[in-house]
Amino acid sequence: MLSLKRILLIVDGPGVMTHTASLVTSLLRQGVAMRVALTESARLLVGDYFTTMLSGTPLIRFPEISEKILGDSDAVLAAPVSEKMAWLLCEDDWLAKWKHVKGPVMIAPAFLPQEDNAEVRMMLSSRGGGAVQWLMAEDETTDMGSLGSLDVASPERCLEAAMTAMTKQDLAGKRILITAGPTVEDFDPVRFVTNRSTGRMGVALARMAAWRGADVTIVHGPMTWPIPPHGGIHACPVRSAQSMYDAVMARVAYMDLAILCAAVADFTPINYSNVKIKKQKSADGVFSLEMKRTPDILDSIGHASGRRPFLVGFAAESDHVQAYAQAKLESKNCDMLCANDVTKPGSGFAVGTNQVTVFKRDGSVVELPQMSKEDVARRVLDIALEGMSHRAAN
Ligand code: CTP
Repeated sequence: MLSLKRILLIVDGPGVMTHTASLVTSLLRQGVAMRVALTESARLLVGDYFTTMLSGTPLIRFPEISEKILGDSDAVLAAPVSEKMAWLLCEDDWLAKWKHVKGPVMIAPAFLPQEDNAEVRMMLSSRGGGAVQWLMAEDETTDMGSLGSLDVASPERCLEAAMTAMTKQDLAGKRILITAGPTVEDFDPVRFVTNRSTGRMGVALARMAAWRGADVTIVHGPMTWPIPPHGGIHACPVRSAQSMYDAVMARVAYMDLAILCAAVADFTPINYSNVKIKKQKSADGVFSLEMKRTPDILDSIGHASGRRPFLVGFAAESDHVQAYAQAKLESKNCDMLCANDVTKPGSGFAVGTNQVTVFKRDGSVVELPQMSKEDVARRVLDIALEGMSHRAAN
């Protein structure tokens, strides 16, 4: 079900130029409505119309934040704010005001990088008596051109924290393993065999699960799609099918749910040449690469003895989607299989959308409409959670 969210964004100082456009647009993209409150120093830098035009709602001046505005907010994100402002926002009168907010209050203080402020950060992060959540910079420096730079949580990390704070934590306590992206099979120092997967579907699953409170491990091949900076997502980069197999097998017994979304290479070159293979070696113009099967990770988990997680596979098909998907569900012994037809427009590699049909072990089939990969991820997680509860009850 669609749930409408509202956030109050408070911005102070030069961070308005580096963070605000990105934060406002990415929150809007996630369907979050917002009010933006600027302090005087931020207003002086960008003027009155900047945030109004970006957010589509009239600007609020910081001192004019009312109880009504706070009461209408599902969360408050003060990002970035100066150190002075950060102290102010956790004084008693502001702590009393925060009680009107429906959800959490997050503060991302900005520091000048040249200052030794470890002690100040420590003191700040213990302020607020649990009423505020601190987003401290973690090796993050924002460049502000001729104005210098600031140590402050990046807009991406602020976004992840805000979305998590506004999402129902129905996967809290669950450990989820996701495989994503392609694998890369090398056969000399400069050449390899791979496929067209960008990792976008796997990253969407990891992100949506982390927003819902899960502890996520994403084992991924070299991907073009970035992993968002979320404390609940642990990335385990690998390269070949064999290294993905090893990384997954070392972790999977501890997991509650495993979603195998990676486009694992089915074959890998038998021989690896330590030196670059010269083209003169193929005088007849033909080059043959002898390949062997890689281990099938999904199949290995499906047929492993002992404790195993609820197991979800993916299947990218170009024909006979239903028949092949049903056969994979059975033969790999998984609990659920999500199939997509990669030949359909808007479904498959390197696009933002997907159209997936979910095949369940009890024979039922859920056909999802074409949606963004993040919405597909949400629905796949819903169906998996339902299956896990059902399995636990029986
Ligand atoms: N898979 C895996 N290990 C492999 C190959 C595939 O874990 N070596 C997983 C994929 O991550 C996916 C599922 O198996 O969850 C199905 O992958 P797919 O490529 O569609 O099918 P294959 O089993 O490789 O069979 P085929 O290529 O013949 O369709």
